[in-house]
Amino acid sequence: MLVTTPGTLVSAPSVQPCGLAREASPVRVGLIGCGAFSRFSMHHYRTLPGVSIDMVADIQPDAAHRAAAELGAKDVASETILACPDIDLVYIATPPALHFQQARSAILAGKHVLVEKPLATTVADAEELRALATARRRICVANLIERYNPLAGATKQIIDSKLLGELIHGLFINEAADEGLGRSHWFWDRKTSGGIFVEHGVHFFDLVASWLGPGRVLSASRGLRPGCDPPVEEQVMCTCRYNGVLFHFEHGFHQPSRMDRQEMRLVFERGELQLFDWVPTHGVVRGLVDDAGQTMLMQMLPQANAYPLEWYEGTQQRLLGRFKPFEASAYVEITFTTGLDKLGIYGKVVGDLAADQIAWIRESTHVRRLTEADSVASVMMACAADEMALAGP
Ligand SMILES: NC(=O)c1ccc[n+]([C@@H]2O[C@H](COP(=O)([O-])OP(=O)(O)OC[C@H]3O[C@@H](n4cnc5c(N)ncnc54)[C@H](O)[C@@H]3O)[C@@H](O)[C@H]2O)c1
Repeated sequence: MLVTTPGTLVSAPSVQPCGLAREASPVRVGLIGCGAFSRFSMHHYRTLPGVSIDMVADIQPDAAHRAAAELGAKDVASETILACPDIDLVYIATPPALHFQQARSAILAGKHVLVEKPLATTVADAEELRALATARRRICVANLIERYNPLAGATKQIIDSKLLGELIHGLFINEAADEGLGRSHWFWDRKTSGGIFVEHGVHFFDLVASWLGPGRVLSASRGLRPGCDPPVEEQVMCTCRYNGVLFHFEHGFHQPSRMDRQEMRLVFERGELQLFDWVPTHGVVRGLVDDAGQTMLMQMLPQANAYPLEWYEGTQQRLLGRFKPFEASAYVEITFTTGLDKLGIYGKVVGDLAADQIAWIRESTHVRRLTEADSVASVMMACAADEMALAGP
């Protein structure tokens, strides 16, 4: 046995190689950072088949003890996790400014790494992590869960199908609660969080990139909470272009929890799609369609119900938009839902992302839905928006 921190015993290193060479063994996870979010995500990781959460570490002893007890894991120092050859995957859930150094150390120790978002708080650091991980054939992705939502997949199908015509523009309005974020929370300290675009916006830059491909930030601004010293950045906004499609993002953290609300709206030539909640649980499509179009839309959406708003007959079916003629037999509203509540869908996407990445650890021919390149791209968008917002007018 090896003594690491006072009173903490861990197994001496075994000769068994980690990860790719041990496909039949469980994938063993070490957690660094036992705070609010990792308590949630670990609850979902532990239900994944063939995954074992073996060790946890936190600079706050109470947080580490509690997580260790909840997970049936050993409470150790971070260095012990990195030094243990039995640990395959390190999940880092500390505040953002720590991600780069902790992820770098973990990759250098031969571990796969799943980092909470953002991957890093600068583009250079994010690029370095990607390069290191690629060179060492290790995973190093940020926990960008949005693209794993079945509603994100359905939205992509609708965009690509062009059943509602071309996508013209998108809008994400995020009126988030700050009730759990007291004045001294690291979230408000830009040196620790990276600012709202970096800490939070990365989720949505990645989601839209998963639909439309790479984006570019055109303009950005931010709003400070009046009367606060040091300054409190409480809202940010930016306009981007993704393959010709304009997208506007607004993220504000200024609402009581009961008023926390979000809406994603995609405007097409012949309709629109709305998703509700920041990890969307349900939504609605409204559009001018014919019978076949309605059927196909309903097949793409989970638990869909159609409500015709208007019917058209004869020459009424001939319509015109963007200089283009088209025909539609109805103006229809289609509601859809995952059937899960907010925490239900949140837990599902957290588990699905981890399962997708772990599948690659088991078998490197597995094609992941989220890569290191995606994780870096979201940091690039966030840092570009942040720089523009800071430069401000
Ligand atoms: N993917 C998501 O949907 C999602 C949601 C919420 C938070 N997050 C991310 O999760 C991360 C953590 O957020 P949180 O809300 O859990 O924060 P938190 O403050 O509740 O937890 C952070 C934990 O890290 C510990 N810590 C700090 N420095 C450490 C160090 N050097 N070594 C080990 N432990 C250390 C702290 O003691 C604390 O327990 C952030 O990056 C945040 O952006 C992601």
